[in-house]
This record gives sequence, C-alpha cells and structure tokens, in this order.
Amino acid sequence: MHIRDPKIIAGLAELNAELQHGASLANMTSLGIGGTTDLVRIRKHECLPGLLNLLDANDIQYKFLGGGSNLLVGDGELPWVVLQLVRPEPDVVFDGNLAHVDAAADLGRMITFCAKNDLGGMEGLIGVPGTVGGALRMNAGAYGMQIGSYVREVKLYRAASRKIEVLRGHQISFEYRHTSFAPDDMMLSVILELPSKPFKSILEGIRICNEKRRSSQPLGQKSAGCIFKNPPGASAGRMIDELGLKGLSVGDARVSDRHANFFVNAGHATAKDMLRLIADVREQVQKKFGVSLENEVVVWNA
Ligand code: EPU
Repeated sequence: MHIRDPKIIAGLAELNAELQHGASLANMTSLGIGGTTDLVRIRKHECLPGLLNLLDANDIQYKFLGGGSNLLVGDGELPWVVLQLVRPEPDVVFDGNLAHVDAAADLGRMITFCAKNDLGGMEGLIGVPGTVGGALRMNAGAYGMQIGSYVREVKLYRAASRKIEVLRGHQISFEYRHTSFAPDDMMLSVILELPSKPFKSILEGIRICNEKRRSSQPLGQKSAGCIFKNPPGASAGRMIDELGLKGLSVGDARVSDRHANFFVNAGHATAKDMLRLIADVREQVQKKFGVSLENEVVVWNA
C-alpha cells in the first residue's frame, strides 16, 4: 500500500512519524520472505493515538512490526502499511531489580545488558532473535523459562480503547506462546523484575543455553524459529522428524536438516512456497499422528 495523499503525508510528519515508501518486508524479517509496502516509523509513543486516528480516518489498514523474527509475510504488494517503533537511546534503564525496557529494544542485547548489571533469570532466551515487544506479545520462552514470569508492568497502545494504557503483570495472562493481549495491541515498554545474580553465573547460564541452541537449531540459516507450537506433551519437531520429512522442500522453502520444526528459506523462497510446505507437513502429521499442529509462526498473508 502506498500513502500518496499529501495531507496524510503532512499529518504523519506533524506526528513526528517517519514515512518510508516501498519498504521490503523480506529485508525486515528473519525468514527473508515478504512483499513491499510503506513503513511508518514511530519516534514518540504519545503520537500513536493521533497516528492511528489518522490512518483509520483514511481507511488505511496497518500492522505492527517488532523484530520480524517470528513472522511469515505474504508476497507482492501488501494491502496494509507497517508500523514500527524507533528504538530510543537508552532503551534499558535500571531501578534496583527493575529493568525499564523499551519494546523496540533487542531481546538478546537487553539480556546481556541486564547480566552486566547482575540481573538474571532470562538466560534461556539468549539467542532468541527479535525485540522485547515481540517476545512479550508471544510470551517467548526456551529452556524452561518464559519472559512473562518477570513482567511487573506493561505500557501498551490498546486498539480497543484507542488509548495508551498500563497493565500490571497480574492483569495479563501469560501461557505457552500465548498472551491475553489483543492481536491489535501494540507493546510500548515493559518493567521487568529480575532476580539478582552474579554476572559470572548468569554468563555461565548463557553459555550453556547458547551451546544447546547451537547444537540443535539451524542458527546460520534464514528461519522464523519453530514453525509449529508443541502439542501438549509432545514435540512437533520430533514428530516431523519421525515422518522422515527433514529436507522436504517446496521451491526454496525447506524443512531444516538440523531441527525438523524449523523451516528455512534456502534461497529465494516465497510465502506461497513456505505456506505450501507448512500445509503439507501439517497434513502428514495429522494423518500419521492424528494431531493438528497449530502455527507458532505469525502469518501476515494479506
Ligand atoms: N527432536 C527430534 N528431531 C528434531 C527436533 C527435535 O527428534 O528434528 C527431539 C529432540 O531430540 C528432543 C525433542 O524433540 O528430544 C525436543 O526438541 P528440542 O529440545 O529441540 O525442543 P523443541 O520442543 O523442539 C522448544 C521450543 C523452542 C526452544 C526449545 C528449547 C517450541 C515450539 N519450541 O523446541 O523454541 O528454543 O524448546 O527450549 O516450543 C521457538 O519458539 O521458535 C523455538 C525454537
């Protein structure tokens, strides 16, 4: 979608938002797949209600992009614009055991920065790409921990009330790769309450998790992490592997040889290829195991 109307362009400038025409979502997602659209970068949280009123008044559909690391975007010209927060400096501020973190902060860098300040707990998430906002919305987790456990407070833009609101941790439900946030809520910042730990012991935890991840996941390749959620008590990766589907391809979309729940873009895969591969694998797992796998990856397909 292209924003051409000079009045809207002027309105965006007034709201201190930066408009970039024809941004490539393939360049903004870890899968390297996705078409083009206009990108609106938001410098000030406070401008969001005005910005979204402007877009709504002009019937412009939008989606919020975090780090693009758990996302499969459709091909071609996309029918909505993409909104993204500009990362402020600094993006993490400490107050005792509390870390005040901007949603646009990089998750891994935030974990390392907290470690340097003797705050731990999130070692398992090291190596998970993406922003803190994205991790929060999905309740990212790995190696027995999840970000939701440390959330004291979240500031977010709520599409339903069209206001910026603050939610206390107990008002939000954090489940396995799922939260009670609405799909059109936009994470703005979070206060995490983290346990004190010596830097050295956090570093050791980080080293162990990094090693486990390196040995089991295709880290150097373009992927969106795990494609499917694990069904209760089972592993999607193991089921796909048992079916002998590692290496199965549709175009350049391919089931990883290293971890069967990672589907990689081995060249110039399109969203169409990747969606076909996902559907094929889901069907085979359903046939063999009678389990309907649910997407873990978020799909923006028009
Ligand atoms: N396995 C296989 N073949 C495979 C992959 C896995 O046999 O191709 C087996 C493993 O040997 C192991 C079991 O399946 O016995 C589970 O595998 P793994 O430990 O790799 O964990 P997972 O359940 O596949 C989950 C998360 C990952 C997270 C890891 C580590 C989901 C969908 N996946 O993977 O998260 O990094 O545990 O905690 O919950 C993600 O969210 O994108 C993600 C990658």
